[in-house]
Amino acid sequence: MSDSPTTTPYDIVIIGTGHAGAQAAIALRQEGFDGTIAMIGEEAYPPYERPPLSKEYLAGEKAFERILIRPERFWEERAVTLRLAERIVAVDAEARCLTTQAGALVEYGTLIWAAGGHARRLSCDGHDLSGVHSVRNRADVDRLIAELPDVREVVVVGGGYIGLEAAAVLTKFGKAVTIVEAQDRVLARVAGEALSRFYEAEHRAHGVTIRLNESVACLEGERAISGVRLADGSVLPAQMAIVGIGIIPSVEPLIAAGAEGDNGVTVDAQGRTSLPHVFAIGDCAAHANAFADGAVIRLESVQNAHDQATVAARTIMGKEVANHAVPWFWSNQYDLKLQTVGLSAGHDRAILRGDPAGRSFSVVYLRGDRVIALDCVNAMRDFVQGKALVADGAVVPDEALADPERPLKTLWPLG
Ligand code: APR
Repeated sequence: MSDSPTTTPYDIVIIGTGHAGAQAAIALRQEGFDGTIAMIGEEAYPPYERPPLSKEYLAGEKAFERILIRPERFWEERAVTLRLAERIVAVDAEARCLTTQAGALVEYGTLIWAAGGHARRLSCDGHDLSGVHSVRNRADVDRLIAELPDVREVVVVGGGYIGLEAAAVLTKFGKAVTIVEAQDRVLARVAGEALSRFYEAEHRAHGVTIRLNESVACLEGERAISGVRLADGSVLPAQMAIVGIGIIPSVEPLIAAGAEGDNGVTVDAQGRTSLPHVFAIGDCAAHANAFADGAVIRLESVQNAHDQATVAARTIMGKEVANHAVPWFWSNQYDLKLQTVGLSAGHDRAILRGDPAGRSFSVVYLRGDRVIALDCVNAMRDFVQGKALVADGAVVPDEALADPERPLKTLWPLG
């Protein structure tokens, strides 16, 4: 009898069961790949949609079954082996072999790394008290929901999408919510100032307290959280804290194996890493993006996960394929549907289109003369029609962009 670990070989191994990993498997089968595929993920659940976690799932409006990316039987029918609750801790790119935390070995012909990211945590005292939550996976949200009945006051740390969406849901549940944001406005990473101010006003109108330019000194409490102490010494009483301060890409085993990267693993336009036979896609993949003026960035979005997965799958199938996908995002808060197309970072002008007081408007972002992004609030038509303007870097007179009576599709392409 030997004690050596069992080794299982697959033609393609996908790490991660999120949007990117799931779509990679789907696209490979759609493209006619008939080899073996395994999808390995540390979560115990089959692939599910992550955006509803801070929205309908948290609100109790959608059961888990309704946020599955595919019904559970789909994976079996497509001969995709799901290896759940398994975590990869090491990659040997030369031997084309992975090691799981439990010590099992998995050999691959091609590796698709779609491990996403994990929620950044606070590092101050009290960060690990009970009652302190992230909103990144189903288990996080289930724990949070279970505690809610005993909670009156919630401090949300971080005014990004996660923090704002969670605040909107908890306010609806009648909780007293305070958002603590380190920057001088919410949504600073993803949107321009006008949009930030609009969302701050909306949240305040719903009774949310927003503390800007504030940092957390520590979380107080014995075993469970009782309050949040800010750097100015004030203490916000809280029986729960929700921490939405961004994600850290999960790439350690790949970087340790020699893949190029730092904040994410570096990939080319088809998703190839610097390691042979290893692709990376989704939130963890740093790529030169045409819509960011060619800068190397990571995009944390369902759209990017989906498109990079499809491109990688086709590339593996020997097709020549480019990724020209225009980035888009969305966020639901209260009755407001925010839809973003393009990347507004680096804009030098923003044009308001419509009246925020009417709760349906857009902000058009420009760099130089060119349209680079739109944020559309309850303005689906602008979102749909604005995509072409972003894709082409349209040059349109300001007064036309500012006039909501003139549909964007009549402004571009020019006559
Ligand atoms: N204290 C307070 N605020 C902080 C701190 C801190 N210590 N650190 C960061 N922040 C703020 C940032 O200024 C930013 O406004 O937290 C916010 C984090 O926003 P995002 O980076 O957008 O991250 P998050 O909202 O957590 O979303 C994480 O989930 O919904 C997806 O697209 C979203 O991929 C993103 C991910």
